[in-house]
Amino acid sequence: MKAVEIGDGYGIDALRFVQREPVALGPTQVLIRVKAVSLNYRDLLVVNGIDRWRPPVGRIPVSDGVGDVVERGPAVRSLVVGDRVAGLFLPNWHSGKLTPAKLQRSLGGAAYDGMLSEYVVLDEQDVIRVPASLSYEEAATLPCAALTAWHGLIEEGRVKTGDTVLIQGTGGVSLFSLQFALLSGTSVIVLSSSDEKLERVGQLGVQHRINYATTRDWVKPVLDITDGKGVDHVVEVVGADNINQSIEAVAISGTISVIGLIGGLKAEINTEKIMSKQIRLQGIEVGSTEMFASMNQAIETNALRPIVDKVFAFDQAKEALRYLDAGRHFGKVVITI
Ligand SMILES: NC(=O)c1ccc[n+]([C@@H]2O[C@H](COP(=O)([O-])OP(=O)(O)OC[C@H]3O[C@@H](n4cnc5c(N)ncnc54)[C@H](OP(=O)(O)O)[C@@H]3O)[C@@H](O)[C@H]2O)c1
Repeated sequence: MKAVEIGDGYGIDALRFVQREPVALGPTQVLIRVKAVSLNYRDLLVVNGIDRWRPPVGRIPVSDGVGDVVERGPAVRSLVVGDRVAGLFLPNWHSGKLTPAKLQRSLGGAAYDGMLSEYVVLDEQDVIRVPASLSYEEAATLPCAALTAWHGLIEEGRVKTGDTVLIQGTGGVSLFSLQFALLSGTSVIVLSSSDEKLERVGQLGVQHRINYATTRDWVKPVLDITDGKGVDHVVEVVGADNINQSIEAVAISGTISVIGLIGGLKAEINTEKIMSKQIRLQGIEVGSTEMFASMNQAIETNALRPIVDKVFAFDQAKEALRYLDAGRHFGKVVITI
Protein backbone atom coordinates (compact mmCIF):
# COMPACT_ATOMS: atom_id res chain seq x y z
CA MET A 1 0.00 0.00 0.00
CA LYS A 2 1.10 3.59 -0.53
CA ALA A 3 1.62 5.93 2.42
CA VAL A 4 3.36 9.15 3.42
CA GLU A 5 5.73 9.10 6.39
CA ILE A 6 8.04 11.38 8.36
CA GLY A 7 11.49 11.24 6.73
CA ASP A 8 14.95 12.03 8.06
CA GLY A 9 14.20 15.41 9.55
CA TYR A 10 11.16 17.61 9.93
CA GLY A 11 9.20 19.90 7.65
CA ILE A 12 6.92 19.29 4.68
CA ASP A 13 9.86 18.76 2.29
CA ALA A 14 11.22 15.91 4.45
CA LEU A 15 8.03 13.84 4.11
CA ARG A 16 8.47 10.76 1.91
CA PHE A 17 6.11 8.68 -0.21
CA VAL A 18 6.61 4.97 0.56
CA GLN A 19 5.21 1.51 -0.16
CA ARG A 20 4.34 -0.56 2.94
CA GLU A 21 2.59 -3.82 3.79
CA PRO A 22 -0.61 -3.34 5.84
CA VAL A 23 -0.16 -4.75 9.36
CA ALA A 24 -1.83 -8.11 10.10
CA LEU A 25 -5.40 -7.92 11.33
CA GLY A 26 -6.05 -8.69 15.05
CA PRO A 27 -9.31 -10.35 16.19
CA THR A 28 -11.14 -7.08 16.98
CA GLN A 29 -9.60 -5.01 14.20
CA VAL A 30 -10.80 -3.91 10.78
CA LEU A 31 -8.90 -3.15 7.57
CA ILE A 32 -10.00 0.20 6.15
CA ARG A 33 -9.43 1.37 2.58
CA VAL A 34 -8.91 5.10 3.22
CA LYS A 35 -10.78 7.31 0.73
CA ALA A 36 -10.07 10.83 1.99
CA VAL A 37 -8.20 12.64 4.75
CA SER A 38 -8.52 16.23 5.91
CA LEU A 39 -5.76 18.43 7.27
CA ASN A 40 -5.64 20.27 10.58
CA TYR A 41 -3.25 22.85 12.01
CA ARG A 42 -2.09 20.08 14.35
CA ASP A 43 -0.80 18.05 11.36
CA LEU A 44 1.63 20.92 10.69
CA LEU A 45 2.85 20.73 14.32
CA VAL A 46 3.52 17.00 13.84
CA VAL A 47 5.17 17.31 10.41
CA ASN A 48 7.32 20.20 11.62
CA GLY A 49 8.31 18.27 14.79
CA ILE A 50 7.16 20.99 17.20
CA ASP A 51 7.31 20.45 20.98
CA ARG A 52 5.26 17.45 22.24
CA TRP A 53 3.99 16.75 18.70
CA ARG A 54 7.48 15.66 17.49
CA PRO A 55 7.15 12.18 15.90
CA PRO A 56 9.86 9.61 15.16
CA VAL A 57 11.11 8.86 11.64
CA GLY A 58 8.62 6.60 9.83
CA ARG A 59 5.50 7.87 11.58
CA ILE A 60 2.48 8.27 9.23
CA PRO A 61 0.97 11.72 9.93
CA VAL A 62 -2.58 13.16 9.67
CA SER A 63 -5.27 12.45 12.25
CA ASP A 64 -8.45 12.70 10.21
CA GLY A 65 -9.50 10.19 7.60
CA VAL A 66 -12.47 8.22 6.37
CA GLY A 67 -12.80 5.02 4.36
CA ASP A 68 -14.55 1.72 3.81
CA VAL A 69 -14.24 -1.37 6.00
CA VAL A 70 -12.90 -4.01 3.56
CA GLU A 71 -12.02 -6.84 5.98
CA ARG A 72 -12.73 -7.61 9.63
CA GLY A 73 -11.20 -9.74 12.35
CA PRO A 74 -13.16 -12.78 13.60
CA ALA A 75 -14.25 -11.11 16.87
CA VAL A 76 -15.52 -7.83 15.34
CA ARG A 77 -19.17 -7.32 16.34
CA SER A 78 -20.07 -3.69 15.62
CA LEU A 79 -18.99 -3.29 11.96
CA VAL A 80 -19.53 -5.05 8.65
CA VAL A 81 -17.63 -4.94 5.38
CA GLY A 82 -18.75 -1.86 3.45
CA ASP A 83 -19.31 0.38 6.49
CA ARG A 84 -18.03 3.93 5.96
CA VAL A 85 -16.02 4.90 9.02
CA ALA A 86 -13.75 7.64 10.35
CA GLY A 87 -10.84 7.08 12.71
CA LEU A 88 -11.28 8.67 16.15
CA PHE A 89 -8.81 11.42 17.11
CA LEU A 90 -8.76 10.26 20.75
CA PRO A 91 -9.69 6.56 20.45
CA ASN A 92 -9.55 5.91 24.23
CA TRP A 93 -12.18 8.56 25.01
CA HIS A 94 -15.48 6.78 24.47
CA SER A 95 -17.67 8.68 26.93
CA GLY A 96 -17.75 10.53 30.23
CA LYS A 97 -15.18 13.00 31.52
CA LEU A 98 -11.64 13.19 30.13
CA THR A 99 -9.00 11.28 32.14
CA PRO A 100 -5.23 10.89 31.63
CA ALA A 101 -5.81 7.38 30.24
CA LYS A 102 -8.31 8.69 27.69
CA LEU A 103 -5.72 11.21 26.45
CA GLN A 104 -3.02 8.63 25.96
CA ARG A 105 -3.59 7.70 22.33
CA SER A 106 -4.17 10.14 19.49
CA LEU A 107 -4.13 9.26 15.81
CA GLY A 108 -1.33 10.74 13.70
CA GLY A 109 0.44 12.26 16.71
CA ALA A 110 3.90 11.63 18.08
CA ALA A 111 3.18 8.06 19.19
CA TYR A 112 0.61 6.58 16.76
CA ASP A 113 0.36 6.35 13.01
CA GLY A 114 -2.27 8.47 11.30
CA MET A 115 -4.40 8.18 8.19
CA LEU A 116 -2.26 9.43 5.28
CA SER A 117 -2.13 5.94 3.86
CA GLU A 118 -4.06 3.80 1.37
CA TYR A 119 -5.03 1.29 4.07
CA VAL A 120 -5.13 1.46 7.88
CA VAL A 121 -5.82 -1.21 10.49
CA LEU A 122 -7.81 0.01 13.51
CA ASP A 123 -9.71 -1.59 16.36
CA GLU A 124 -13.49 -1.57 15.91
CA GLN A 125 -13.64 0.67 19.02
CA ASP A 126 -11.30 3.19 17.38
CA VAL A 127 -13.67 4.16 14.56
CA ILE A 128 -17.16 5.57 14.13
CA ARG A 129 -19.64 5.34 11.23
CA VAL A 130 -20.00 8.64 9.38
CA PRO A 131 -23.26 10.26 8.24
CA ALA A 132 -24.62 8.73 5.02
CA SER A 133 -25.51 12.24 3.84
CA LEU A 134 -21.83 13.23 3.47
CA SER A 135 -19.29 12.43 0.74
CA TYR A 136 -15.97 10.87 1.78
CA GLU A 137 -14.32 14.30 1.38
CA GLU A 138 -16.90 15.96 3.64
CA ALA A 139 -16.90 13.18 6.24
CA ALA A 140 -13.09 13.30 6.48
CA THR A 141 -13.38 16.79 8.02
CA LEU A 142 -15.26 15.61 11.12
CA PRO A 143 -12.89 13.85 13.60
CA CYS A 144 -10.86 16.84 14.83
CA ALA A 145 -12.14 20.25 13.66
CA ALA A 146 -15.88 19.54 13.73
CA LEU A 147 -15.84 17.56 16.98
CA THR A 148 -13.76 20.23 18.74
CA ALA A 149 -16.20 22.94 17.66
CA TRP A 150 -19.18 20.80 18.72
CA HIS A 151 -17.58 20.02 22.11
CA GLY A 152 -16.74 23.67 22.84
CA LEU A 153 -19.99 25.30 21.80
CA ILE A 154 -22.64 22.62 22.28
CA GLU A 155 -21.50 19.99 24.80
CA GLU A 156 -19.63 22.26 27.25
CA GLY A 157 -20.68 25.73 26.09
CA ARG A 158 -24.42 24.94 25.89
CA VAL A 159 -25.00 27.99 23.70
CA LYS A 160 -28.65 28.87 23.22
CA THR A 161 -30.91 30.99 21.04
CA GLY A 162 -30.24 34.67 21.62
CA ASP A 163 -26.62 34.24 22.74
CA THR A 164 -23.85 36.07 20.89
CA VAL A 165 -20.80 34.04 19.80
CA LEU A 166 -17.45 35.51 18.69
CA ILE A 167 -15.50 33.29 16.30
CA GLN A 168 -11.84 33.93 15.47
CA GLY A 169 -10.80 33.07 11.92
CA THR A 170 -12.19 31.08 9.03
CA GLY A 171 -10.21 27.82 9.29
CA GLY A 172 -11.53 24.35 10.11
CA VAL A 173 -12.55 24.74 13.77
CA SER A 174 -13.80 28.29 13.14
CA LEU A 175 -16.20 27.48 10.29
CA PHE A 176 -17.64 24.42 12.06
CA SER A 177 -18.14 26.67 15.10
CA LEU A 178 -19.90 29.15 12.84
CA GLN A 179 -22.20 26.45 11.43
CA PHE A 180 -23.06 25.01 14.87
CA ALA A 181 -23.57 28.50 16.32
CA LEU A 182 -26.02 29.40 13.54
CA LEU A 183 -27.84 26.07 13.99
CA SER A 184 -28.27 26.97 17.68
CA GLY A 185 -29.94 30.28 16.85
CA THR A 186 -27.14 32.46 18.17
CA SER A 187 -25.97 35.78 16.77
CA VAL A 188 -22.45 35.38 15.35
CA ILE A 189 -19.49 37.77 15.00
CA VAL A 190 -16.57 36.55 12.87
CA LEU A 191 -12.98 37.87 12.81
CA SER A 192 -10.79 37.27 9.76
CA SER A 193 -7.63 38.75 8.23
CA SER A 194 -9.24 38.75 4.79
CA ASP A 195 -12.09 40.89 3.43
CA GLU A 196 -12.67 38.25 0.77
CA LYS A 197 -13.14 35.54 3.41
CA LEU A 198 -15.43 37.87 5.39
CA GLU A 199 -17.50 38.30 2.24
CA ARG A 200 -17.90 34.50 2.07
CA VAL A 201 -18.82 34.44 5.77
CA GLY A 202 -21.54 36.98 4.94
CA GLN A 203 -22.91 34.61 2.29
CA LEU A 204 -23.27 32.00 5.06
CA GLY A 205 -25.62 34.35 6.89
CA VAL A 206 -23.28 36.13 9.31
CA GLN A 207 -24.09 39.81 9.67
CA HIS A 208 -21.24 40.95 11.95
CA ARG A 209 -17.77 40.67 10.43
CA ILE A 210 -14.51 42.34 11.48
CA ASN A 211 -11.12 42.33 9.74
CA TYR A 212 -8.67 41.79 12.63
CA ALA A 213 -5.68 42.68 10.42
CA THR A 214 -6.96 46.17 9.65
CA THR A 215 -8.91 46.65 12.91
CA ARG A 216 -6.30 45.61 15.46
CA ASP A 217 -8.47 46.77 18.37
CA TRP A 218 -11.38 44.51 17.45
CA VAL A 219 -12.72 44.59 21.01
CA LYS A 220 -14.26 48.02 20.40
CA PRO A 221 -16.48 47.00 17.46
CA VAL A 222 -17.44 43.79 19.30
CA LEU A 223 -18.60 45.88 22.29
CA ASP A 224 -20.45 48.27 19.93
CA ILE A 225 -22.29 45.35 18.28
CA THR A 226 -23.33 43.98 21.70
CA ASP A 227 -24.41 47.37 23.15
CA GLY A 228 -21.41 47.37 25.47
CA LYS A 229 -22.33 44.02 27.04
CA GLY A 230 -19.78 41.76 25.32
CA VAL A 231 -20.33 38.31 23.80
CA ASP A 232 -21.61 35.26 25.65
CA HIS A 233 -19.05 32.89 24.13
CA VAL A 234 -15.64 33.27 22.44
CA VAL A 235 -14.18 30.50 20.26
CA GLU A 236 -10.49 31.17 20.98
CA VAL A 237 -8.40 29.52 18.26
CA VAL A 238 -5.42 31.84 18.64
CA GLY A 239 -4.59 31.51 22.35
CA ALA A 240 -1.60 33.05 24.19
CA ASP A 241 -1.75 36.89 24.33
CA ASN A 242 -4.90 36.99 22.24
CA ILE A 243 -6.85 35.73 25.28
CA ASN A 244 -6.49 39.20 26.84
CA GLN A 245 -8.58 40.68 24.03
CA SER A 246 -11.13 37.90 24.41
CA ILE A 247 -11.32 38.67 28.15
CA GLU A 248 -12.19 42.27 27.23
CA ALA A 249 -14.72 41.20 24.57
CA VAL A 250 -16.61 38.59 26.61
CA ALA A 251 -19.67 39.48 28.71
CA ILE A 252 -19.88 39.16 32.48
CA SER A 253 -20.34 35.43 33.23
CA GLY A 254 -19.42 34.64 29.62
CA THR A 255 -17.32 31.69 28.42
CA ILE A 256 -14.08 31.51 26.46
CA SER A 257 -13.46 28.13 24.81
CA VAL A 258 -9.67 27.87 24.80
CA ILE A 259 -9.01 25.71 21.77
CA GLY A 260 -6.05 26.96 19.74
CA LEU A 261 -2.40 27.82 20.07
CA ILE A 262 -1.69 29.64 16.80
CA GLY A 263 -0.39 32.57 18.87
CA GLY A 264 1.91 30.43 21.02
CA LEU A 265 1.81 28.14 24.05
CA LYS A 266 2.14 30.66 26.91
CA ALA A 267 1.27 34.27 27.77
CA GLU A 268 0.75 36.72 30.60
CA ILE A 269 -3.00 37.11 31.04
CA ASN A 270 -5.23 39.40 33.06
CA THR A 271 -6.37 37.14 35.92
CA GLU A 272 -8.06 40.00 37.79
CA LYS A 273 -10.51 40.52 34.92
CA ILE A 274 -11.29 36.80 34.82
CA MET A 275 -12.34 37.08 38.45
CA SER A 276 -14.21 40.38 38.41
CA LYS A 277 -16.15 39.49 35.22
CA GLN A 278 -16.76 35.91 36.44
CA ILE A 279 -15.42 34.56 33.15
CA ARG A 280 -15.37 30.85 32.51
CA LEU A 281 -12.13 29.84 30.72
CA GLN A 282 -12.97 26.45 29.30
CA GLY A 283 -10.12 24.33 27.90
CA ILE A 284 -11.28 22.03 25.12
CA GLU A 285 -9.69 18.78 23.93
CA VAL A 286 -11.21 17.35 20.76
CA GLY A 287 -14.04 15.20 22.17
CA SER A 288 -15.38 11.70 22.91
CA THR A 289 -16.99 9.05 20.69
CA GLU A 290 -20.30 9.75 22.44
CA MET A 291 -20.08 13.45 21.48
CA PHE A 292 -19.15 12.44 17.91
CA ALA A 293 -22.33 10.33 17.69
CA SER A 294 -24.49 13.27 18.87
CA MET A 295 -22.77 15.57 16.38
CA ASN A 296 -23.37 13.10 13.52
CA GLN A 297 -27.05 13.04 14.40
CA ALA A 298 -27.23 16.85 14.33
CA ILE A 299 -25.41 16.92 10.97
CA GLU A 300 -27.89 14.45 9.43
CA THR A 301 -31.00 16.03 10.95
CA ASN A 302 -30.03 19.53 9.83
CA ALA A 303 -28.53 18.47 6.47
CA LEU A 304 -25.34 20.34 7.45
CA ARG A 305 -22.55 20.22 4.84
CA PRO A 306 -18.93 20.76 5.98
CA ILE A 307 -17.17 23.56 4.11
CA VAL A 308 -14.43 22.00 1.99
CA ASP A 309 -12.16 24.62 0.49
CA LYS A 310 -9.93 22.54 -1.76
CA VAL A 311 -9.36 18.86 -2.59
CA PHE A 312 -5.88 17.57 -3.53
CA ALA A 313 -4.82 14.21 -4.99
CA PHE A 314 -2.71 11.81 -2.88
CA ASP A 315 0.49 12.57 -4.79
CA GLN A 316 -0.08 16.29 -4.01
CA ALA A 317 0.00 15.69 -0.23
CA LYS A 318 2.94 18.07 0.24
CA GLU A 319 1.22 20.78 -1.81
CA ALA A 320 -1.90 20.32 0.35
CA LEU A 321 0.11 20.81 3.56
CA ARG A 322 1.83 23.87 2.07
CA TYR A 323 -1.55 25.29 1.10
CA LEU A 324 -2.76 24.86 4.71
CA ASP A 325 0.46 26.36 6.04
CA ALA A 326 0.02 29.45 3.83
CA GLY A 327 -3.32 30.13 5.58
CA ARG A 328 -5.26 31.01 2.44
CA HIS A 329 -7.89 28.31 3.03
CA PHE A 330 -11.51 28.90 3.98
CA GLY A 331 -12.73 25.83 5.90
CA LYS A 332 -11.13 22.46 5.25
CA VAL A 333 -8.31 21.19 3.05
CA VAL A 334 -8.81 17.58 1.90
CA ILE A 335 -6.69 14.91 0.17
CA THR A 336 -8.36 12.04 -1.71
CA ILE A 337 -6.66 8.66 -1.68
N1 LIG B 1 -7.93 21.87 21.52
C1 LIG B 1 -8.17 21.02 20.56
O1 LIG B 1 -8.57 19.89 20.77
C2 LIG B 1 -7.97 21.47 19.14
C3 LIG B 1 -8.62 20.83 18.09
C4 LIG B 1 -8.49 21.35 16.81
C5 LIG B 1 -7.68 22.46 16.60
N2 LIG B 1 -7.03 23.02 17.64
C6 LIG B 1 -6.20 24.21 17.45
O2 LIG B 1 -7.06 25.25 17.01
C7 LIG B 1 -6.35 26.11 16.13
C8 LIG B 1 -7.08 26.19 14.80
O3 LIG B 1 -7.02 24.91 14.17
P1 LIG B 1 -7.59 24.70 12.71
O4 LIG B 1 -7.21 23.33 12.32
O5 LIG B 1 -8.99 25.15 12.62
O6 LIG B 1 -6.63 25.73 11.91
P2 LIG B 1 -6.76 26.33 10.48
O7 LIG B 1 -7.77 25.63 9.66
O8 LIG B 1 -5.37 26.44 9.95
O9 LIG B 1 -7.31 27.80 10.74
C9 LIG B 1 -6.60 28.76 11.45
C10 LIG B 1 -7.33 30.08 11.31
O10 LIG B 1 -6.94 30.91 12.38
C11 LIG B 1 -7.23 32.22 12.01
N3 LIG B 1 -6.35 33.13 12.71
C12 LIG B 1 -5.00 33.17 12.71
N4 LIG B 1 -4.55 34.20 13.46
C13 LIG B 1 -5.65 34.81 13.96
C14 LIG B 1 -5.85 35.94 14.81
N5 LIG B 1 -4.84 36.65 15.30
N6 LIG B 1 -7.12 36.26 15.12
C15 LIG B 1 -8.17 35.58 14.64
N7 LIG B 1 -8.04 34.50 13.82
C16 LIG B 1 -6.79 34.13 13.49
C17 LIG B 1 -7.07 32.31 10.49
O11 LIG B 1 -8.23 32.92 9.99
P3 LIG B 1 -8.24 33.89 8.73
O12 LIG B 1 -7.49 33.19 7.65
O13 LIG B 1 -9.68 34.11 8.45
O14 LIG B 1 -7.55 35.16 9.18
C18 LIG B 1 -6.98 30.83 10.05
O15 LIG B 1 -7.85 30.54 9.04
C19 LIG B 1 -4.93 25.53 16.04
O16 LIG B 1 -4.10 26.15 16.98
C20 LIG B 1 -5.12 24.08 16.41
O17 LIG B 1 -3.96 23.49 16.91
C21 LIG B 1 -7.15 22.55 18.91
